[in-house]
Amino acid sequence: MRMIGKAGKAAAVAAIAALALTGCGRSETGTGGGTEGASGFEQGSSIGVALPQKTSENWVLAEKLFNEGLSDAGFKADVQFANGGVSEQQNQISAMVTKGAKVIIVGAIDGSQLGTQLKQAKDSGTIIAYDRLLLNTENVDYYVAYDNFKVGELQGQALLEGLKAKKPAGPYNIELFAGSPDDANAKVFFDGAMSVLQPKIDDGTLKVLSGQTSFEQAVTQGWKAENAQRRADTLLTGSYGSESLDGVLSPNDTLARAVLTSVKGAGKPIPVITGQDSEVESVKSILAGEQYSTINKDTRKLVEHAITMAKDLQAGKELEINDKDSYNNGVKTVPAYLLEPVIVTAANVKTAYAGDPVLEPITK
Ligand code: BGC
Repeated sequence: MRMIGKAGKAAAVAAIAALALTGCGRSETGTGGGTEGASGFEQGSSIGVALPQKTSENWVLAEKLFNEGLSDAGFKADVQFANGGVSEQQNQISAMVTKGAKVIIVGAIDGSQLGTQLKQAKDSGTIIAYDRLLLNTENVDYYVAYDNFKVGELQGQALLEGLKAKKPAGPYNIELFAGSPDDANAKVFFDGAMSVLQPKIDDGTLKVLSGQTSFEQAVTQGWKAENAQRRADTLLTGSYGSESLDGVLSPNDTLARAVLTSVKGAGKPIPVITGQDSEVESVKSILAGEQYSTINKDTRKLVEHAITMAKDLQAGKELEINDKDSYNNGVKTVPAYLLEPVIVTAANVKTAYAGDPVLEPITK
């Protein structure tokens, strides 16, 4: 099913866990473990949802959907954003434990910095990592996410296809952008994309004129648009005075638009550029022929599945898991439920969002 993805992804996730271990010197040896087949808990219990910073539209939508969906399912919803950063998120999770949350769903700002709070949480309930894996802790029971390695692969493939459509033969000049290094997903996206792009860099089809091909060189701290725009300005001045920039790997839509702002400011032609999240402005940009691709990871489906997990836990039912092997967090392999991301370009933009209340009208 997953062709190059499986082994590569497992290795990528293991590598992140190792990085986080050496980077932060943290390692948890808690006593918790999986709760499959647990005996359930009272209806109407509190469910905590700890969301990160509002770094893309998907998180904002998730807040609304969790509030509505958990209340509709009869739970007490306790949904918090941590715009103040890691310590705010740590305090919010501790407060959820104090309020007696039976399930805590965590979209971590930094998945390796919540060990103490997750240990407290594990004594009273079940912990589900949402979208981003929780690293170096025994105290995470499940993971629900879109297949992040696949997201990166799709981005890499789209970049190659877009370049070929513009100019049938290489070499093509490209630059690489990655997400925030504290977000466990960022390296997985990058590794997925590089599994497609690295062989083409090695055979000379793709040239990275800046020479910045490592994850560490490509990262965008905090997933902040201004950081990506500043780096793009520097790259354009440093390496593209007289050369053309044909393509850019961008890990998400916010950063893609930031890079496009930089390119336009420099008076350069628009490169083939990838994205992720199906943000409104990026879908409009694809329709206008600027941004080349995005990824559809329907937040409705992800939140819906996280709520299904909470309902199954409440009822004492065994949870549906479709990946038992790939997500080693440095301490344990976390049973996961993965959803399939979908690539969107101008070719399928009109059909991809059929039924999406916000995006379908834009494509009409
Ligand atoms: C999510 C992406 C999002 C990024 C920045 C990642 O963890 O998976 O969808 O673009 O965070 O918010």
